[in-house]
Amino acid sequence: MSLSSEVLKWKYENFLVNKNNNFNKQEILQILSPEDIDAAYKTISSWKNYSPTPLISLNKLNKKLKLNKIFYKDESKRFHLKSFKALGGAYAVEKIIKENDKKVISTATAGNHGRSVAWGSQKNSLKCKIFISEFVSESRAEVMRSFGADVIRVKGNYEDSLNECIMQSNKNNWQIVQDVAWEDYKLVPKLTMAGYSVMMKEISEQIKVDKISHVILQAGVGGMAAAMVAGIARYLDHIPQIIIVEPDTAACVLESIKTGKIEKISIEKESIMGGMSCGEVSLVPWEILKNSVHFCVTVSDDYISKTVKYLANKEFVDEKIIGGECSTPGIASLVGLSNDLEIRKKINLDEKSNVLLFGCEGDADEELYQKLLAE
Ligand SMILES: Cc1ncc(COP(=O)(O)O)c(C=O)c1O
Repeated sequence: MSLSSEVLKWKYENFLVNKNNNFNKQEILQILSPEDIDAAYKTISSWKNYSPTPLISLNKLNKKLKLNKIFYKDESKRFHLKSFKALGGAYAVEKIIKENDKKVISTATAGNHGRSVAWGSQKNSLKCKIFISEFVSESRAEVMRSFGADVIRVKGNYEDSLNECIMQSNKNNWQIVQDVAWEDYKLVPKLTMAGYSVMMKEISEQIKVDKISHVILQAGVGGMAAAMVAGIARYLDHIPQIIIVEPDTAACVLESIKTGKIEKISIEKESIMGGMSCGEVSLVPWEILKNSVHFCVTVSDDYISKTVKYLANKEFVDEKIIGGECSTPGIASLVGLSNDLEIRKKINLDEKSNVLLFGCEGDADEELYQKLLAE
């Protein structure tokens, strides 16, 4: 089946309008301040081998979908860590150790955040303890070990690995560097978000003439999405339609936007998009997302391997793109939304639209990437 007839069948699962939408630049920048955002850019852009990741125009896909442009931020090229998470954890490690004398860093992770924390610890000559659940692949664990971390596998899911991390860290006086916030633990997650905001700084310089009309942001606990919203407030002079995409099995942001308060959901089935399989939005991101998001959408896992293959086989643009599982939902949801004529009208998606998508990771889990390609 040709690409054109294939993608025109894709569907999203759920769609929700945020009735509390009221984008307030000042409120957002009170939560993640311009000083924090600027400090992160100053530090990270001075790291060895720093360069902005590519912003690729998917010029075959936009023709299929009858949109003006689709920009894809390719985070597979972020340092040698293969995901945007390289910007957050490593930056938080570097900042937080200036404020205390702890010599051991710890974290719980689905993979990419831990890799970043391990790299940051290694760069700063610190020991690193990383807690992973039974759902994190051995190939991801191996990469974290290659950055010098001790990897501790915990029975159960991500939440269990985080609880074990907190327990052992309190007992041993380790510095937790987590990308999730809770009461009394907000500084480090804010630093990770400040790190992520470098992506929006780069994008604001890469998009010269076109104005972004829509942005689709993946959410796990919401840190990346909220950091991009703060980046929009900091760097853009207009507000695009902000759309959150989640796996249909882990739609914790959508459920919270629906009721206007944080809703914890139970995950019956883990999505292949492991970094996004989260049951509860984090506190700091929620404060930013609750009024700034326009729409939420969910997608099934059905389009992951197809999207990975189409990216690799130059179906969306004349360039091979290595996109892992979490880089696919932006594309899958855009295709699904765009195939629904009523939704197109509702969200003003048309031939003038310039849509921004995030290719959050490359083949960060090499084994899974090969499996998806072969499917
Ligand atoms: C590649 C990738 N994309 C997206 C996310 C979601 O980010 P957040 O948990 O900040 O919402 C993650 C989280 O681990 C990830 O690893």
